[in-house]
Amino acid sequence: MNPLRHVAIIMDGNGRWGLKYKNSRNAGHKAGLKTVEKIIKETIKHKVKFLTLYAFSTENWRRPKKEINFLFSLLETFLTNRVDELHNQDIKLKIIGEKSFSEKLNNLLNNAEKKTFRNKKLQLNLALNYGSKFELINAFKKLKKNNKKINEKNLSLFLQTKNIPDPEILIRTGDTKRLSNFLLWQLAYSEIFFEKKLWPEFNEKDYTKIIKKFKNIKRNFGNI
Ligand code: IPE
Ligand code: IPE
Ligand code: MG
Repeated sequence: MNPLRHVAIIMDGNGRWGLKYKNSRNAGHKAGLKTVEKIIKETIKHKVKFLTLYAFSTENWRRPKKEINFLFSLLETFLTNRVDELHNQDIKLKIIGEKSFSEKLNNLLNNAEKKTFRNKKLQLNLALNYGSKFELINAFKKLKKNNKKINEKNLSLFLQTKNIPDPEILIRTGDTKRLSNFLLWQLAYSEIFFEKKLWPEFNEKDYTKIIKKFKNIKRNFGNI
């Protein structure tokens, strides 16, 4: 059975779900948040130590302002109301991506990270204003600036995922098969599961099925 330490998820399909059932993309984002809560709990049940959720990409700034504002207001509400609960569940929150939002949101994010820093049960990485190409370019720049040799080990020390093992599993919901600039380096050897269901429809059972399937895959890493 394959060990599993880290699951990464591209939570796609909120907009389509919202339009289909509530005639509003934003309603889909709201519904997607419920799935987030379910999947966090289920991750802990499976004793997985790291969960990385793609919440907002560097490309998502291209969306209409109204949708962007709604997404960030959802996040603000979540942080305001739920961080204590995360803390009580021994969950450590880490943001990967560039924290260049409003002062209020930056403070909420920094405080949540600080408060939960020592927690041990699960590390929840939230990819926010995250883009893998930007992350890699920055890492190379830092290697150069610090006069470090370019090798795998040194590069990974300058990535946002420093000290986080690479994901063994990537899940993308929403019936779309692409990576959308997510963890390009870290996913080099991940098992990839593309899910037809839209994110608000994805549930614990679907998730457990994927984990079970993963556990029995023959992982070669180039060997036979
Ligand atoms: C993913 O769902 C969530 C975010 C990017 C915030 P989408 O909003 O991309 O949903 P679809 O793909 O348009 O249905
Ligand atoms: C990827 O989903 C980003 C997140 C889930 C946050 P998108 O829906 O933005 O991806 P593309 O643009 O369709 O590839
Ligand atoms: Mg999408």
